[in-house]
Amino acid sequence: MCDHEGCECGCHCCCGSGDEKHVGLPRLNQPAPAFEAPTTHGTLRLSDYEGSWLILFSHPADFTPVCTTEFIAFAEIYPELQKRGVELLGLSVDSVYAHIAWIRNIEEKMGVKIPFPVIADLNKEVASAYGMVMPGESTTEASRCVFVIDPKGLVRAMIYYPLTSGRNMQEILRLIDSLQTSDKYQVATPANWKPGDKVIIPAPKTQEAAEVRLSEGHECVDWYLCKKNL
Ligand code: BEZ
Repeated sequence: MCDHEGCECGCHCCCGSGDEKHVGLPRLNQPAPAFEAPTTHGTLRLSDYEGSWLILFSHPADFTPVCTTEFIAFAEIYPELQKRGVELLGLSVDSVYAHIAWIRNIEEKMGVKIPFPVIADLNKEVASAYGMVMPGESTTEASRCVFVIDPKGLVRAMIYYPLTSGRNMQEILRLIDSLQTSDKYQVATPANWKPGDKVIIPAPKTQEAAEVRLSEGHECVDWYLCKKNL
């Protein structure tokens, strides 16, 4: 661990080289690590997504069964993500050629077109910056990570799944809906919330506000747990 200027987020740094790189886990509500990387759609940078929501996700390897089901599932939710103003960007430590061959195979054999770009992170630069490789699982492959990055470039949510568990696309959509609803209405969402359900009004922060909360006409279990319809 080093505390050099510009790396004050508690991340691990490559010390002494004069060119420090974030190699820890990103933090919620901190700027997402910048990158410029080769992808199946040409060179892309994080800054290309400024002003848009971005889901950056990693998968362990091309031409593997769970990853293939996930790619098909990501392609299936892509239109729903676009409706929500969310771009999708995949990543693994395979080459662009391997990505192209796999994407063509998915289209030929499974009839699914992969519409989003995939980073070829052969030198693991992006994977290191985002803490995608979990040495306890694999020193060569990225785990199944999902980073939700908002239009200001802040990391708003992170999901880490192990190699053997494919991700749940409905949960990813639900998470996007929750984040966008929280931002728009300054509310929180309860367990298992889905769009259309009641939302949680932030708990009062003063005794005086707690006093009046129960008389505000909301559906309250007690002063600190009140819900409302949007
Ligand atoms: C898979 O996608 O099937 C997979 C990839 C790496 C390790 C285990 C499973």
